[in-house]
Amino acid sequence: MTEQTRDKFFGESQLFEPPGSFQEKALVSDRRLYESAQKNRLAFWASMAEDVEWMKKWDTIFEDDDAPFYRWFNGGTLNVSFNCVDRHTLTSRRNKAALIFEGEPGDSVTLTYQQLYREVNRFSSGLKKIGVQKGDRVTIYMPMIPEAIIAMLSCTRIGAIHSVVFGGFSSDSLKDRIDDADSTIVITADGGYRRGKVVPLKENTDQAVAACPSVEKVIVVKRVGNAINMDEQRDLWYHEIIKEADDYCVPEEMQAEDPLFILYSSGTTGKPKGILHTTGGYLVGVHCTFKYVFDYRDEDIFWCTADIGWVTGHSYIVYGPLSNGATVILYEGTPDYPERDRFWEMIERYRVNVFYTAPTAIRAFMRWGEDWPARRDLSSLRLLGTVGEPINPEAWMWYHEYIGLGKCPIVDTWWQTETGMILITPLPGVTTTKPGSASQPFPGIEAAILDEAGEEVEPGKGGFLVLTSPWPAMLRTLYKDPERFKETYWQQYPGKYFTGDGAMKDKDGYFWIMGRVDDVMNISGHRIGTMEVESALVDHKAVVEAAVIGKVHDLKGQAISAFVTLKEGLDGSDELVEELKAHVVKKIGAIARPDDIFFASELPKTRSGKIMRRLLRDVAEGRALGDTTTLLDPGVLAGIMEKYKS
Ligand code: WTA
Repeated sequence: MTEQTRDKFFGESQLFEPPGSFQEKALVSDRRLYESAQKNRLAFWASMAEDVEWMKKWDTIFEDDDAPFYRWFNGGTLNVSFNCVDRHTLTSRRNKAALIFEGEPGDSVTLTYQQLYREVNRFSSGLKKIGVQKGDRVTIYMPMIPEAIIAMLSCTRIGAIHSVVFGGFSSDSLKDRIDDADSTIVITADGGYRRGKVVPLKENTDQAVAACPSVEKVIVVKRVGNAINMDEQRDLWYHEIIKEADDYCVPEEMQAEDPLFILYSSGTTGKPKGILHTTGGYLVGVHCTFKYVFDYRDEDIFWCTADIGWVTGHSYIVYGPLSNGATVILYEGTPDYPERDRFWEMIERYRVNVFYTAPTAIRAFMRWGEDWPARRDLSSLRLLGTVGEPINPEAWMWYHEYIGLGKCPIVDTWWQTETGMILITPLPGVTTTKPGSASQPFPGIEAAILDEAGEEVEPGKGGFLVLTSPWPAMLRTLYKDPERFKETYWQQYPGKYFTGDGAMKDKDGYFWIMGRVDDVMNISGHRIGTMEVESALVDHKAVVEAAVIGKVHDLKGQAISAFVTLKEGLDGSDELVEELKAHVVKKIGAIARPDDIFFASELPKTRSGKIMRRLLRDVAEGRALGDTTTLLDPGVLAGIMEKYKS
C-alpha cells in the first residue's frame, strides 16, 4: 500500500454502531465474552471447547513445554465428522438442510443432515474398503460440488489426512502437492463448470499422477460426463465405490493433536508450505468463531463464496458451519455467469441471510454497477462479511449500501491459512465498526504491533502484526519441515507468532491491516509467492533470471509484474511475453498469470546479490525510488526505468 492510499484508508472516520434491531436478537450484545477471556484466557478456551462433542475429555487445556510446538486439549479424543454430521442426526436438525448445492449450469441438490450422514458413512466405508487407513494422505482436487465436502468429511471420519488442492491449480502444482504429501489417494472429478466451460480436472490429474509414484488409486466423481481416460488398474468411479459401500462406518477416535489436514499455501520461497492443522484445537476454533462472528441462528442460510481449496472454504463452508448444524450454500461457478447478478439472484431465490465474500469480488461488483444488485430482492440479508485482503473504505461503503441495504453489520475478518480460524474481527452485535479496519482481536486472542526491535509501537504508527499468545486453531507445524515452521513464524520475535503482515493500531485499539511485508503477494485475495512465479519463469528455456513484484491494482488489490532477463542473443518480443505468461499458467495456474512482463538486460541487485524487488515496485508503481545506496550498479535500474517508461 502506498502512503497516499494508506492516508486515505485511515482518514475515514465514520463509525457504524450495531443496528439496534440486530443487537436485540444477537447471540452476544455485550462485552462479556471479552471480559471472561481477559480474566482467564485458558478457562475461556476450555469453555469454548465444551461446545464441541468429545469422546473423552482433555487432560490439559494447553501445553507449551515443547514450544513452538504447542498442544491444545491434549488427552482429549473426538471425531470431526461426528461433530459435523452424526451429532445433528440425533436432534431435530436431522431433517434440516446441511448443504444447498447449486451448479453453475443451474442444477441443484439439497442434502439434509440425515442425507449427508448417509453419504459420508458410505464414502468413508468405501475408502476403508480400498485400504485407506488412519494417517494416510488423500489429495482432493475437485470442483465445488457436494462430493468434495463428503470427501473431506469422510477423510476426517476414518482419520485420513486430507490435502485439498484448489481446482484452478495446474497439473504441475497438483503434482508438487501430491508429492510433498506422499498421498496414496487422489479424489477428483471428470471436470467442473466454470464460466460455461469445462475445467478438465481428470486430465490434469492424469498428467500429475503420471509422475507421482505414491498414488495408488484415483477416485473420480462423474460431474460433467465428458470423455475422460480411465486407467483400469488405478482409477475408480466414485459412484461405484458408493454402490458397494456400507451404510455405517464407525468414526475413528482421534486424539486432539492427531493431524486433521494439510493445506498448501505460498510462502517466501518457491516451494509452497504444507500447513498442518490438528483435530481438537482446529475444530474448537472454527466452531466458536463461526458461531459468534456470524451470529449463528438455526434458521439462517449462510453463504461463503470462497472455494474449498482455500482455508476460508475449509473453515467457513465446511467445519465451522457444519459443526454448528448450519445450512450452507455451495455454489460451483463464477459470479458473472450467465449474468453479473448471479450471486444476487441466488440470494433472492434462496433467501440467504449471511453472506461472506472477498474485497476483490466487491470491487468487481462495484465496477459492474449497482443496477445488478438493485434488480434483486436482497432483504433477507442480515449480516455481511469480508476476508482475504484489506477492504478499502469505498468498497466497504458500497457493500454496506447496495448489498446490505444500509442495515447489515459488516464483519471484516482478518486471519490466515496458518491461523485456521478468524482472529481479528468485529462481533456484529457488539463492535462499532470503522470501514477498512478489521477492528479487534476475537476474545482470547492477543495481538500487538511491534517494530524491528520487538518493541510495541505507539498508536497510529505502523509495524509488524504479531500474535503474542497461542490459540487453539493455530497451525502445529509445516508438513515434514519443522525447521521451516520455526524459522518462518517464531524466529523474528521469540515466543511470538510473526504473521508476515504490516498493520497499525489506532488510539481506540482498532487494528488496520496494511498487507504483507514479506515476499508474498495478494492477488485477488489469493496468496502467491513472488519466488513461485519467478521459479516458473526461470523454468522457461529463454529466461536467465526473473524478479516478480505485486503492483497496486484497482480490482485485484495487487497484480503481478515480472522483470525478466533473457539468454544472450534473444529478443523480448510480444510473442515471447505471451509465451512466458502461458508458461506461468502451466506451471502454477491461471491465478498466477502475470499482468505485465518487462525485459531487462540486468536486474537491480545488492552487493551481496539479492534482487531488490522493493525498487522494482517503485518503478512499476511510478514512485520516486526508495533507498538505493545498497545497489551494486545504479545504472541497471536507470536502464530499466528508461525502458519501463517507453
Ligand atoms: C490477508 C485467508 C486484511 C493478510 C483467510 C493475511 C487480510 C493473508 C484479511 C492470509 C483482512 C486476510 N484484512 N488482510 N480481513 N484477511 N488478509 O492464508 O495479508 O489465504 O496474511 O488466508 O491475507 O491469506 P490466506
